[in-house]
Amino acid sequence: MKYTVKQIKQIFLNFFEKNNHKVIKNSPIVPENDDSLLFINAGMAPIKKVFTGEAIPESKRMCNMQTCIRTNDIDSIGDRHHLSSFCMLGSWSIGDYFKEGAIKYAYQLLVEELKIPASKLYVSVFSGDKEKNLPADTESEEIWRGLGFDDNHIIHCSFEDNFWRMGDGEGPCGPCTEVFFDTGDKHGLSYEQSGYFDDKKRYIEIWNAGVFMQYLQHEDGKTYSKLSMNSVDTGSGIERMVMALNGLDSVYDTEIYKPIIEFIENVSSNPNQSSLRIIADHIKTAIHIINVGIQPSNVKRGYVLRRLLRRAMRHMRVIGCDEKYLEEIASRTYDNLNSCDIAPDWITSKSDIIDVIKIEQEKFLKLLANGLKTFEEFISNPKNISDGKLDSTLVFKLYDTYGFPFEITKELAFEKGLSVNENEFNQLFSKHKEESKGDIGKVFKSGLADNSYESVKLHTATHLLHSALKKVLNENVNQKGSNITPERLRFDFNFERKLTPDEIKKVELLVNDVISKNLPVVKEIMTYEDAKKSGAIGLFENKYGDSVNVYSIGDFSKELCAGPHVANTGELGVFKIVKEESSSAGVRRIKAILKND
Ligand code: ALA
Repeated sequence: MKYTVKQIKQIFLNFFEKNNHKVIKNSPIVPENDDSLLFINAGMAPIKKVFTGEAIPESKRMCNMQTCIRTNDIDSIGDRHHLSSFCMLGSWSIGDYFKEGAIKYAYQLLVEELKIPASKLYVSVFSGDKEKNLPADTESEEIWRGLGFDDNHIIHCSFEDNFWRMGDGEGPCGPCTEVFFDTGDKHGLSYEQSGYFDDKKRYIEIWNAGVFMQYLQHEDGKTYSKLSMNSVDTGSGIERMVMALNGLDSVYDTEIYKPIIEFIENVSSNPNQSSLRIIADHIKTAIHIINVGIQPSNVKRGYVLRRLLRRAMRHMRVIGCDEKYLEEIASRTYDNLNSCDIAPDWITSKSDIIDVIKIEQEKFLKLLANGLKTFEEFISNPKNISDGKLDSTLVFKLYDTYGFPFEITKELAFEKGLSVNENEFNQLFSKHKEESKGDIGKVFKSGLADNSYESVKLHTATHLLHSALKKVLNENVNQKGSNITPERLRFDFNFERKLTPDEIKKVELLVNDVISKNLPVVKEIMTYEDAKKSGAIGLFENKYGDSVNVYSIGDFSKELCAGPHVANTGELGVFKIVKEESSSAGVRRIKAILKND
């Protein structure tokens, strides 16, 4: 092996440090105060505000290595170079040097310092987009030409490939120039001028050597305005760099994955390459996510974590790797992150991380046992089978209601000499996804994390809590914030001191009293002025002239709100306050749950 991961990291950071860049800290993988992003997906994400001038950078020139998580192409994992978590080596110029400086640094580091023959490098430049009014990046092209690159090594790419944006919302963006490494004839045909450039197999991107941050993408995701200063953002996945420089076949052959994959292979009865890679990748990403305090759940980041762990466990089954090895795989992965010098700042201890994995494993095994019972029931009824195929609505029900992975139903059906219709399942799945519009990352109305029945019930309980607090404490108590997940409600309100145990009890009693009266929750639509006159509470801001929804529960609660709510308080169960604490100066926070008994 020519280079270790640690060496590449040092060479990269030393090079930029030598050129007056300040090495800044790696940030936790969950963005701070930024709900627009599930996970940090690029080195620039934690410092995105410095590009727009909203924040002052530590230095005009910076660099670091940042752990990133990208789960959008989770289904590509298992090929040669896709990963759900990776380390991005990044460098930045904030209103300092621009295209010329960035491209020269890229050339110096790759060709002069790391001694990659320039003949093995290919670069892409942005070819412009007339519709979007974005010009071609001829300047970058000329700079590359000046360094000896010609038409055989310069590829012109469209908006989709060479205009970098963080996502579809508001944010800094610009044309970019990427560097590709030629992995050789065994990975496909060589590039012929203006022909097909195979960036999937033969030519692997090793560095986005410059996103030229010149524009601000507006919230509509379609229009752009010029930023007040020009900046540079670069990013290189260390795994790909190590793979390319050592002439390895895939990122999974680097020291970050290889020892883990070898271990899993040794304890599996029927290993296959793709499953081995998926298990190693997913457990590593899960460790990063658990480390920052996230638990598996059915919403947002917790859902991503659950999906990664369950997918890894399912692939362990596929290759005949006993479930007892999961702990050992996780333990080795944790240790290996340290050995390769790419560990995050550990916030959670190794044993606590492994405990979270073990608890999720127990839940998954129980779910499998239950699903298995339901599966047996389904197939015991001949009506559910036609032409040797299991009814697709039942296969989907197993997935949707019982959380049973499709692939496991397929496996079990196969063992019974039956089959399943994957196309029909996918159609039902897409329809369902369309209807529920994605449970990941979407922000729902009224502070709800999702539209599940549990969250809706807790939302109605929040209204009761709001009114009860006004009655028990005083009329001036008002909502300052609300956040609802299927597990609990969280309600912030203005009040100067801690509530006494007696006050907490009184609030609970009042809420439970209304619940037990089985009162209907009534929605009325009225003008803003009428709502105010009717005595409804809620946020009356900037709404003049609008018609608004007002939800009433008997004469106990009347509140301006976008919904959704249950039809009747009798649906709620027993209300219980589980925590009362300070949220900020003059603001208290209550967490409460609903129990079904
Ligand atoms: N932010 C750029 C990328 O992720 C460097 O490719």
